[in-house]
Amino acid sequence: MQERPLDPSLKLLLDALALAPSNAPLRLHVATAMEKAGQHAAARPHFDQLADDPAHGVDALLGGARCALAMHDEDGALARANKLLARVPEHAVALLLRARVREKRREHREARADYERAVSLDPALADTQFWDALLPRSPEPEAPAGNADEKPRDPDAITFQDVGGLDDLKERVRMKIVHPFKNPELFKAFKKRTGGGILLYGPPGCGKTFLARAIAGECGAHFNAVGLHEVLEMWIGNSEQKLHAVFDDARRRAPSVLFFDEVDALGLQRAKLVTGAMRGVITQFLSELDGFQGRNERVLVIGATNTPWDLDPAFRRPGRFDQVLFVPPPDTPARAQILKLKLEGRPQTAVDVDRVAGQTEGWSGADLEHLVESAAEIALAKSLAKGGVEPITQAMVDQARAKLRPTTREWFSTARNYAQFSNEAGQYDDIAEYMRRHKLDK
Ligand SMILES: Nc1ncnc2c1ncn2[C@@H]1O[C@H](COP(=O)(O)OP(=O)(O)OP(=O)(O)O)[C@@H](O)[C@H]1O
Ligand SMILES: [Mg+2]
Repeated sequence: MQERPLDPSLKLLLDALALAPSNAPLRLHVATAMEKAGQHAAARPHFDQLADDPAHGVDALLGGARCALAMHDEDGALARANKLLARVPEHAVALLLRARVREKRREHREARADYERAVSLDPALADTQFWDALLPRSPEPEAPAGNADEKPRDPDAITFQDVGGLDDLKERVRMKIVHPFKNPELFKAFKKRTGGGILLYGPPGCGKTFLARAIAGECGAHFNAVGLHEVLEMWIGNSEQKLHAVFDDARRRAPSVLFFDEVDALGLQRAKLVTGAMRGVITQFLSELDGFQGRNERVLVIGATNTPWDLDPAFRRPGRFDQVLFVPPPDTPARAQILKLKLEGRPQTAVDVDRVAGQTEGWSGADLEHLVESAAEIALAKSLAKGGVEPITQAMVDQARAKLRPTTREWFSTARNYAQFSNEAGQYDDIAEYMRRHKLDK
């Protein structure tokens, strides 16, 4: 059977393994990843190499047996399953696997015995269809098993393809967030720490929330957003339980992204807080965050804020929000994309989004949205006056633009103070750099 070429992340893993051939957990991970990718022939030797490993031998034998079964090598599968069961006689999954191998070998009686023992050890393994197949005269299964355990794709999921421009930011996010999230073992092999939360900050309306959703999409993770009102509710009674439930829920849906919008509401500098109740929420929040550290929870915590300087420094400690990313105002390609998205589905003729993008330096995504809304209002008024649909034209967009002002300048005038006077740890270098490049620093 022809096997597909290696995908890039598998190739990375193999390269890492070549450099650390005695790294048993890494080898097991490589083998499992290959198996998942359907590369059974390539995976099997890696599993076999670990068969006698004291810590990983059982998993390796099981993997090797699965691969052999997938390759229709029933003898090979049986040998590995037997070796495993000699070591761990009560291994339910191995028993079930051996049942499947024996079914293929038409040894139905032995297969039934293995199956019954497996299910008595672990009732969750019950598979009535398989059991039916083992019965002397097996009836045809009535309904196909379907993909009941396959997670449904979120129809609203977006990825970096939906995010216009911002190529530098996307590249940083890929390197620092998406790859570590998808390949934790690889990063461990290089002794690079993974985990910890991400803080997105920047002027309002510039795509922090949008980017957080796209990161979840890139990671193939569920997106759980916790909004400001929910955070505020947490302040009022039962906060600890509510917070815990939020983190717990994210764990259950793993892999998932847990997004705290306007996290500054939660992480206001303790000095600025008046009531002890709020302090309790913060403490709880930080300890939930710390709980993720070191454990492979497959939950990425992302916070967003317009006022990073209001955030309690305790939030920035390692393992908490230790990656801080500046989300700048949309660049020209991003503005064109936003305009295109916002105009989509509205009656219009020949609006040159690239031209408008070139004229709206410093405008946020929300400002551009406002611009399109205003142009649509003009078109609507004309349509009503005329009694027929008048599409949005370039002239209407220009007319609306003349009446509006971008809102990010104001944010930068506040940010400038922090970038110039409170930047000891370099945490606002990105702002300073952006302002220099866009001549906003004067
Ligand atoms: N790079 C981009 N590509 C496509 N759309 C974008 C981009 N940046 C922003 N947008 C759009 O702009 C709008 C505002 O973005 P978003 O709500 O994510 O901003 P925000 O930074 O979270 O704002 P706030 O600080 O007010 O919460 C959204 O409707 C989003 O669709
Ligand atoms: Mg937002």
